[in-house]
Amino acid sequence: MTVERPRQDSNLRTRLRRPVLYPLSYWGVSTSIVAVGPPGPRPVGRRRALSSASVSSLAGTTADGDPSEGPPQRQLLPLTAEIGPAGSLSVGGCDLVELAERFGTPLFVYDEAHLRARCREAVAAWGDGVAYATKAFLCRAMAALAHEEGMALDVSTGGEMHVALAAGVPARRLVLHGNNKSPAELARAVELGVGRIVVDSFDEIERLGHLTADLRGADRPRVLVRVTPGIEAHTHEFVRTGHDDTKFGFPLATGAAARAVAVLAGQPGLDLVGIHAHIGSQVFEVSSFEQAADVLSGFFVPLDLPELCVGGGLGVAYVNGERAPTLADWAEATRRACWAAGVPRATRITAEPGRAIVATAAVTLYRVGVIKELPGVRTFVSVDGGMSDNPRPVLYGSGYEAFVPREAGALRPRVVRVVGKHCETGDTLVAEAHVPDDLAVGDVLATPVTGAYGYSMASNYNKVPRPPVLFVAEGRARVAVRGETFDDLLALDQPLG
Ligand code: LLP
Repeated sequence: MTVERPRQDSNLRTRLRRPVLYPLSYWGVSTSIVAVGPPGPRPVGRRRALSSASVSSLAGTTADGDPSEGPPQRQLLPLTAEIGPAGSLSVGGCDLVELAERFGTPLFVYDEAHLRARCREAVAAWGDGVAYATKAFLCRAMAALAHEEGMALDVSTGGEMHVALAAGVPARRLVLHGNNKSPAELARAVELGVGRIVVDSFDEIERLGHLTADLRGADRPRVLVRVTPGIEAHTHEFVRTGHDDTKFGFPLATGAAARAVAVLAGQPGLDLVGIHAHIGSQVFEVSSFEQAADVLSGFFVPLDLPELCVGGGLGVAYVNGERAPTLADWAEATRRACWAAGVPRATRITAEPGRAIVATAAVTLYRVGVIKELPGVRTFVSVDGGMSDNPRPVLYGSGYEAFVPREAGALRPRVVRVVGKHCETGDTLVAEAHVPDDLAVGDVLATPVTGAYGYSMASNYNKVPRPPVLFVAEGRARVAVRGETFDDLLALDQPLG
């Protein structure tokens, strides 16, 4: 099933200006958003949309209801974000401008309470077995936090497995993924007794067969078969995985999935416990998940296995006006679709969200270094990070908001392009950022919703050191990952002897 849609672009403003070739509801966007329309006239004489007090009053709109010129909406900010009496934003009781002074910029600031709340929400929605997809953001502090809050951890490489284990997460709480797990990765997983291995290919079955030939009973690794349900989720093609033309899993359509199940059932050293599928990432439409659940169930029910994992992929709002389903909505809709398709109530139906756990928990702080006004063209605002700490705009055309934490409730009537410091024209962070009129060189500029796939995909392009990562809670800022130094850039570099 294919639905035509353009490349992922979370920037609602850009989207609304495009010819509408598709129903907006494909993104699960509510009709109230459709009514928003293009930016209206600029409000005059009001610099700040709200004077201070509670960030819950961040309606994110101007008086005339325009979401683009208003401050970032509450739903885009971490749970403990608060505007102080002077108008500046704090997270976890720490003032963001002060954090930028103290730790330097760029800086990732994660709200610990937010992370914990999301993990708890996931466990409440899905039950035991729900796994945090560590690819979204992983360091030892994050792995330990997710484990403490009752989540299992999905690791997709030996490296992610290593970090999770180093954080003290027991192997039995890990789910190992990957379309090309090496013999060494599989051997370590089997030896340590990881909780689940999600089998992705016939080659892998063969490798596992050799590794487990002598194992019996409870010593056998529990495995799930990853299948591709033939669904095209409504998301960017690079992060779509449920359709047939993908490197992941065994297609249902060709019979490969059924053959994989049969081959696995004949392996005495492996304990086949279930089926797994993941249709893609940043999926806004609950109906995509329902559709996948329905197709999967048709395959799953006759197998009479105890577990069904529907993967991750729940979308999150990145810009004003976007609305995403909650973890509870997603779980509820998926379970109902599975049950309606005949999956027994006793089946462990589970999932592995990544983005929905961490994305909104973090903001990235940058310092504005250059403002270049090109009359008749545009204004470029250069900050001290860029595509090395957030490659998502370049890779997927993803949209973000930008705001000035010293006055987080300020209106943002000025449209600029926020760019990084890399030697590349495409090094854009926010293509069409709305910022306050008085944005100046030296200001701290923040982008919200940068907790997922930012730090985890960060690079040292142009030998830019990776920024530090802070966890903030109750007025305390702790360094979860220290910032790289110039010397770190030489740490692996070997003079040729
Ligand atoms: N499970 C599997 C098997 C996955 O492949 C993924 C993501 C997840 C779970 C978690 O998906 P989430 O809940 O985070 O959407 N770099 C891209 C996203 C790539 C996702 C890859 N797999 C981005 O920045 O949007």
